Amino acid sequence: MSAETIWIAGAWEAAVRTSERTDPSAPERLTGAYARATADDVARAFAAAAAAQPAWAATSAQARGELLRHTADLLERHAEAATERLIADIGKARRDARAEVLRGVAILRYYAGEVLQHNGESYPSVDPSTLLLTLEEPVGVVGAITPWNFPVAIPLWKLAPALAFGNAIVWKPADAAAGSAVLLARLLEEAGIPPGVLNLVTGSGRELSAAITGAPQLAALTFTGSAEVGLDLRTALARRTVKLQLELGGKNPAIVLTDADLPDAAEQIARGAMGSTGERCTATSRAYVQRGVYDDFLALLLERVGALRVGDPYDEATDVGPPASAEQRRTIERYLALALAGEATIACGGGWDGPCVQPTVLTDVAPASALLREEIFGPVLCVVPIDDFEDGIARANDTEFGLSSAIFTRDLATALAFARRTESGLVHINRETAGVEPHVPFGGLKGSSSLQREQGTAARQFFTNTKTVYVRPR
Ligand code: UN1
Repeated sequence: MSAETIWIAGAWEAAVRTSERTDPSAPERLTGAYARATADDVARAFAAAAAAQPAWAATSAQARGELLRHTADLLERHAEAATERLIADIGKARRDARAEVLRGVAILRYYAGEVLQHNGESYPSVDPSTLLLTLEEPVGVVGAITPWNFPVAIPLWKLAPALAFGNAIVWKPADAAAGSAVLLARLLEEAGIPPGVLNLVTGSGRELSAAITGAPQLAALTFTGSAEVGLDLRTALARRTVKLQLELGGKNPAIVLTDADLPDAAEQIARGAMGSTGERCTATSRAYVQRGVYDDFLALLLERVGALRVGDPYDEATDVGPPASAEQRRTIERYLALALAGEATIACGGGWDGPCVQPTVLTDVAPASALLREEIFGPVLCVVPIDDFEDGIARANDTEFGLSSAIFTRDLATALAFARRTESGLVHINRETAGVEPHVPFGGLKGSSSLQREQGTAARQFFTNTKTVYVRPR
């Protein structure tokens, strides 16, 4: 299998060292071999990006938008191939995988238009003859480190705005998502991106992160992944004035009150917890249910979860595919072992069907258990009874994370009180905690902190620098 997965200055390079990937749903099936880039490759990628960036920034915003629109059309045309690739990479169930690819198309189209919005402001000056205005300019060379769980959508919501606003990029995708990364890069190539404007280096984050944070050309770094790696990147950049955007996990709660539409709440929470095999930092992982409806809700939830089809991710009918990798299987296994050891009662699931973990609902969870505190990144939901709204919000906020949260109630005043008091960057009223639209800010509070929001106008802020210009005509 050829492993031309390093793309620098417009050239696909033959790999010197490779690592092989297998299909998460059939671990004996090889799905690709990817180059393991070296620090020297990263240095060359940054040099190529720096060389290409000024000319890219000098093209018109319309032309940059056109590149994104063209790429969107190509991705739409090749949506089935991209879906297939995404399933092979991480085992995401086909309907979710296809929806993610189409979301990628929408993201590209959104930024193709967003780049034509106003890119600066004018202000009154104390000197009426002075025109006082701001300009938004590209930051320069951007590093993008992307995770495996959304191999198409997350890279595109970083790459599309970075490109739209005139930056050049060095992109290091997660190992497991390398196949999708190559596919996206090839589409951008086909759409006519100039050489060096996007450079792809596949390989181990552990081996390459120092080369990325140490690159002298690096002006901004955008990262989605674990808190541990994100904070290491932040430490590495502490003495540099590099813009940094981090998106670091979640332990997202949903509160269900007695006045909720219970069947709907059960449906939403089942989807929020188990969708994409729970491998979303926005997944619902804690449900806090008011005592008056606890039993009824649990019964409805178990019915919904029991109806989920678990298995072959290539099958159109499958709801929940296998975990993305052996490493992820081991992580989930470790948490299930805590439940088996008595930290919780297994209301459903808790075991494995071939490579797939059964969607698992846990009750009677020990309050201090890691099951309630740590991000599992699997289809595992803890259900906990609460006395009332006050009890619910206190427990929901009792976490180091703060990405997304939900409440299920028909009472508007309670819903709005929740929106104010919940400690999370995303708030859902009568909706699951996952799901993100590209034109609004996305990001967390507390330990999920993004430092800078992503998407929508926040993407413009991150991927541009503001210059303040005083113009005094003479
Ligand atoms: C979604 O909820 O559809 O890694 C997207 C994650 C988030 C993206 C979630 N950054 O799961």
